[in-house]
Amino acid sequence: RAASTRLYSTGPLLPPTYERLYNKYAEVRRVLGAQRLTLAEKILYSHLDNVEESLLSNTNNGRDVRGTAILKLRPDRVNMQDASAQTALLQFMTCNLPQTAIPASIHCDHLIVGERGADDDLSAGIRANQEVFDFLESAARKYGIDFWPPGAGIIHQSVLETYALPGLMMLGTDSHSPNAGGMCTITIGVGGADAVEALVGAPWELKAPKILGVKLTGKLNDWVAPKDLILHLAGLLTVRGGTGFIIEYFGPGVESLSLTGMATVCNMGAEVGATTSIFPYTEASARYLKATRREQAARNAALLQSFPGAGAGASEDAFFRFRADEGAQYDELIEIDLSKLEPHINGPFTPDLATPLSQFKKTVQEQQWPEKLSAGLIGSCTNSSYEDMTRVESIVRAAEEAGLKPKADFYITPGSEQIRATLERDGTLDTFTAAGGIVLSNACGPCIGQWKRQDGVQKGTPNAILSSYNRNFRGRNDGNPETMNFLASPEIVTAMAYAGSTTFNPVTDALTTPDGKEFRFPAPRGLEGPQTPFETGRPAFAVTSQPPDPTVEVAISPSSERLALLEPFDPFPASDLTGLRVLVKVAGKCTTDTISAAGPWLAYKGHLPNISANTLQTAVNAETGEVNAAYDHLAGGARTTIPELARRWRDRRVPWLVVAEHNYGEGSAREHAALQPRYLGARLVLCKSFARIHETNLKKQGIVPLTFADQADYDRIGAGDEVATVGLYDMLRNGGQGEVSLRVTKRGSGEEIVIPVRHTVSRDQARFILAGSALNLLARGG
Ligand code: F3S
Repeated sequence: RAASTRLYSTGPLLPPTYERLYNKYAEVRRVLGAQRLTLAEKILYSHLDNVEESLLSNTNNGRDVRGTAILKLRPDRVNMQDASAQTALLQFMTCNLPQTAIPASIHCDHLIVGERGADDDLSAGIRANQEVFDFLESAARKYGIDFWPPGAGIIHQSVLETYALPGLMMLGTDSHSPNAGGMCTITIGVGGADAVEALVGAPWELKAPKILGVKLTGKLNDWVAPKDLILHLAGLLTVRGGTGFIIEYFGPGVESLSLTGMATVCNMGAEVGATTSIFPYTEASARYLKATRREQAARNAALLQSFPGAGAGASEDAFFRFRADEGAQYDELIEIDLSKLEPHINGPFTPDLATPLSQFKKTVQEQQWPEKLSAGLIGSCTNSSYEDMTRVESIVRAAEEAGLKPKADFYITPGSEQIRATLERDGTLDTFTAAGGIVLSNACGPCIGQWKRQDGVQKGTPNAILSSYNRNFRGRNDGNPETMNFLASPEIVTAMAYAGSTTFNPVTDALTTPDGKEFRFPAPRGLEGPQTPFETGRPAFAVTSQPPDPTVEVAISPSSERLALLEPFDPFPASDLTGLRVLVKVAGKCTTDTISAAGPWLAYKGHLPNISANTLQTAVNAETGEVNAAYDHLAGGARTTIPELARRWRDRRVPWLVVAEHNYGEGSAREHAALQPRYLGARLVLCKSFARIHETNLKKQGIVPLTFADQADYDRIGAGDEVATVGLYDMLRNGGQGEVSLRVTKRGSGEEIVIPVRHTVSRDQARFILAGSALNLLARGG
């Protein structure tokens, strides 16, 4: 091996991002030799902070990186949506840095409710959330972050149209961020704390994912859309089948797909739990770059691929190509012949319950799902491309000419101002509104539960809706747990909305026109993109890009109920912990929802003290069987709620711990489930086992997660017991090495017992915990 890294210079020809990618790729090739690499590996490993350290330590000399190596990565940028950006920015502000270390953007999309139509809804949404938008906008100006105002578009669509370029690595504070994988990027959905690590310039850690290859052959038939590929795949893989994997598409079938179709497929890879998804860069990708006025980017991508010198010898390795090496091996492989695919409808309540369209009528009848279709909703971040909308337009026109109107309510959500304005210019939106469709604002709306239904369907009433969105958990769209929400391509949603029936099959069945004739939908026909470049849209919805301005005051009113500045957490004391009390002993499941509920509490995501009032509010007290009950054993044992007791003990400066059973913190990566207990004074969580992501989140916020060495000890410890740690401080100082136990003084009897515990604290995590939190350490330049 060469002792030092050889740098290749492409002169002034390539932008700095590609110059960096090219040089890092040379290092990857030097370290991994002639190993055949998948596309995902090439891009991911070319973003390593230290290529040699990541690829060689813990691996068999670079032979088994996937699934074992811990990658320390340097993403190119971070994109944030308005709900999660609040906590990310509040945390970033505690670091006192003048600007973000890498480019970033904020997209105001999640807080707008869909109700009457774009203009009314947008004004109402801005009024209701003005202080949050003002905060985000002022933070953007102060730190030099791109700001996309309400109405500008949904994060994933704006990112695809603007920032996504082949070979980039991005983080997004939203689970569907992998949408940009359609443009051959590695884009990973993360929580706010992870985003902040990247924003302050620290390397971002990821266990090297395995790679699931999906080989595509053939070509989609008339009624089949790229959406059907991922609906089918979700059925094969189930909601957990992609966990720990990047899904990489390859094979001749890829060339037949549009760029936006590939993005739809990557977007919904989140539904099978994949780390992210990626497609190669194709001619369709280059066409999309040009249509979105990024010709130079297309030229750069071509140029990067033409430079030899980054690999071994004069072989193909010598070039950086936006596709897998010939002969690259996948950890798992699935082959799909696009010509044999049929339209699918997935749901209700889970995106992996896939039913081919030809079987759907039978399934609806067997399952006794509602036959009446109440609403059809198309668009959103998943499916509002020019191709999607013009394919829909073609069947709407045919139905209109036959005198038909949709029998179900029909809603259209454009993904961005750019696509909306282009569809308006080209007459597509007029076609939809003439048919009775309601165009909603360029925001998430019904896709994230922000839907005020106008059809009188009451909460608790079973009913069926069909959308071209990506996720269909119970209550996801209208907050009604009895709404059965099915997912399909926009053209299937629209045709079925005309029928107003869940048993109608637009491929085989006919409708009756007002004059009694038989009407069959023609196969949808659309255009991949507009014939002239996309419109930029109304200036009020344009992005603002600006250099950082240290004179800007970030707008947070001291009397705000929705936003509050974060104080850095106190560091770990220079000794073992003493005087801790058990706040509550929890029985059974304790998910991140149990620890920090969502729903109406989402409004307080930017206000840690206020949202903390929901902490553990649905936890079951193991000693009494009650939900959300705790007893203040330091003040006479009076009954109160768990968050209230935590708040009292915080005020009295009594540090505490929670005791729980198995898989504590399962569910989402919700960082509030760690932030809130920390804010309220928790120092430890002691349980039988942890959900992995939550265990990491606790450490990042300075809480030490411990498990019972002997699970029977769960029965020996109870609420109000006093706890001191033994060996914890030394373990932290020794970088995670050493034994820890707890000395427990029983409430009432005063009996002393010792409970041996285990931990998974690594050297880096020990440093976080000692500093008080990962952010404290980063703020100190650690
Ligand atoms: Fe997410 Fe739907 Fe918005 S998937 S980004 S909530 S449109």
